[in-house]
Amino acid sequence: MRRVVVTGANRGLGLEFARQLVASGDEVVATTRSPKAADDLNKLASTSDGRCTVVRLDVADPADVAAAARQIGERFEALDVLVNNAGIWRAAGEPERVSAGALADLRAEPVLELLRVNAVAPMLVTQALAPLLAAAGKAVVVNLSSGLGSLARATGRGNVAYGMSKAALNMLTRHLAAELAGQGTVVVSMSPGWVATDMGGASAPLEPPESVRGMLNVVDALTPARSGTFLDHTGATLPW
Ligand SMILES: NC(=O)c1ccc[n+]([C@@H]2O[C@H](COP(=O)([O-])OP(=O)(O)OC[C@H]3O[C@@H](n4cnc5c(N)ncnc54)[C@H](OP(=O)(O)O)[C@@H]3O)[C@@H](O)[C@H]2O)c1
Repeated sequence: MRRVVVTGANRGLGLEFARQLVASGDEVVATTRSPKAADDLNKLASTSDGRCTVVRLDVADPADVAAAARQIGERFEALDVLVNNAGIWRAAGEPERVSAGALADLRAEPVLELLRVNAVAPMLVTQALAPLLAAAGKAVVVNLSSGLGSLARATGRGNVAYGMSKAALNMLTRHLAAELAGQGTVVVSMSPGWVATDMGGASAPLEPPESVRGMLNVVDALTPARSGTFLDHTGATLPW
């Protein structure tokens, strides 16, 4: 039995992480910024024999992160796995072109919003939960990245802010891996593949169960030697 926190667990890959972890007998704190509206997650929690607890968390809000960390500390004495899953493709209420379009269309605030949610928030959440990760002795942090965060592969146009944010997240992975090695915490960036969620869209070739099953298999096999790497859902190494 592992003690696991999943952020952004009310839909998409986060909900699927929570489902599969609960089914495996793990204890899960599943966070969402709107618990009252999280019908699927609340249903999972109510049928989980107490193994799934829902905690409110807007990962981009430092006060929220501190409050959620306190609640998680009341639930768990130590944390074995943190899945920094919450993420956005575009800034809420903004047209896609202002964060993903041509240079002339890009705007500061939407781009900063992507950086805040996709890169700064995982830093804050990991910072707040680092003592609980240390208490586990051997723990894992999974940062949900993307192939679009690969500098080596960014040869085309588009997805500017999203790619910037995931590249920044990848850099965070490298620094956290180095810093947290001393407390036994393994940190990886992981690409789920192109998955049919609200973000991935209906034409994506992978369904959430297959992607998440693959990522959890990769997590099971992680060793300290693989900390600070960028892996896909099959365990293959991606270029930075
Ligand atoms: N699907 C893909 O093809 C794909 C590919 C590569 C990487 N990824 C990455 O995988 C992760 C999950 O993606 P997904 O496909 O499951 O996306 P999704 O279906 O759009 O779900 C995103 C989740 O993140 C949550 N979220 C967004 N902003 C948040 C905030 N400020 N605080 C807390 N939660 C927040 C959303 O909550 P609300 O419901 O409250 O908005 C939702 O639960 C993301 O990091 C994404 O970048 C996905």
